[in-house]
Amino acid sequence: MAVLITGIGELTTNDEERGKLHDAALVLDGGEVVWAGPAADAPDADERVDVEGRAVLPGWVDSHTHLVFAGDRTAEFEARMAGKPYSAGGIATTVGATREASDAELAANLRRHVDEAARQGTTCLETKTGYGLNVADEARSARIAAEVADEVTFLGAHLVPPGAEVESYVDLVCGDMLAAVAEHVRWADVFCETGAFDEAQSARVLRASAERGLGLRVHGNQLGEGPGVRLAVEHGAASVDHCTYLSDADVEALAASDTVATLLPACDLSTRQALAPARRLLDAGATVALASNANPGSSYTTSVAFCVATAVLQMRMSVEEAVWSATAGGARALRRTDVGVLRPGARADVHVLDAPSVTHLAYRPGVPLTWAVWRRGERLR
Ligand code: NIG
Repeated sequence: MAVLITGIGELTTNDEERGKLHDAALVLDGGEVVWAGPAADAPDADERVDVEGRAVLPGWVDSHTHLVFAGDRTAEFEARMAGKPYSAGGIATTVGATREASDAELAANLRRHVDEAARQGTTCLETKTGYGLNVADEARSARIAAEVADEVTFLGAHLVPPGAEVESYVDLVCGDMLAAVAEHVRWADVFCETGAFDEAQSARVLRASAERGLGLRVHGNQLGEGPGVRLAVEHGAASVDHCTYLSDADVEALAASDTVATLLPACDLSTRQALAPARRLLDAGATVALASNANPGSSYTTSVAFCVATAVLQMRMSVEEAVWSATAGGARALRRTDVGVLRPGARADVHVLDAPSVTHLAYRPGVPLTWAVWRRGERLR
């Protein structure tokens, strides 16, 4: 059944040919966008929805979350707000709770957060394993994630679990663990950081994952400068995520590569760190994505709109840059061309704001502006 969305005051297509349209319309059919253009030229459809001058944009593409988890880390957050620094060690708390949880509990928690994100306009979501950290718990995390999320990443190399020896753990990640998760995941990731995995260990994980045919991503440069960005670029990773502390060489390497710099402003704020240098990256010509990093430790929010507002208000991104980065940029980080854009052939993932322009995302920070959402052509709200 074809749906005509008309009366669009401002339509952000992210389509280079069309850019931003005013007084526009969209037609959705069979889960895809089949037409976009001036309202006056719109074809007939079975159903008509008049959005009365509101702004329409592609659904958010949240390319970095960690939502297969159980448990709660409020106490760690409170300690951080009282001055204790964030460290990767908190991950172990969630690993304990995740291992204790049943499959049904993990799946329900994941669905609850994915639904919460969808109600706020997120229509394509990546999530990761990484709170199981043994073969059985990583495999079930990957299986549960694959039932719910659009994209799944294997992050067995998130932390060396308590009691394990690092080199033998890397052997396990590259061997039995990778074999157990491979059928459920498209991506592999490694947390390349002091306190997690060093350059050589990270490189082993990336090589073994590439040999299995997985695409690569890297958690890098979150807590300090380090080899993460360089390693990601050298291995042709689709993205390097965090990028909070970058040397000039890191910025140049990203600008000269296809590796997307995925910035996670909610995480930088929640861990009381500096915000990632978005302006340096954009001015150098790097491709930037914005994502929520929703997880129970360093960034417990599913709000991409919050990330966009922060990027504009505090990271000196323009509204257009921030909106692009949270839609088409996320798609680029996931190497997808069917989401993050509204043009014929794209997935019918549509976000309508209760506002006349995307500028209101930053002009009215913290206000829930999502008015309607279609995902694969189905109206969610
Ligand atoms: O992206 N950096 C590593 N992993 C997550 C944190 C996960 C946690 O603290 O539980 C992140 O911030």
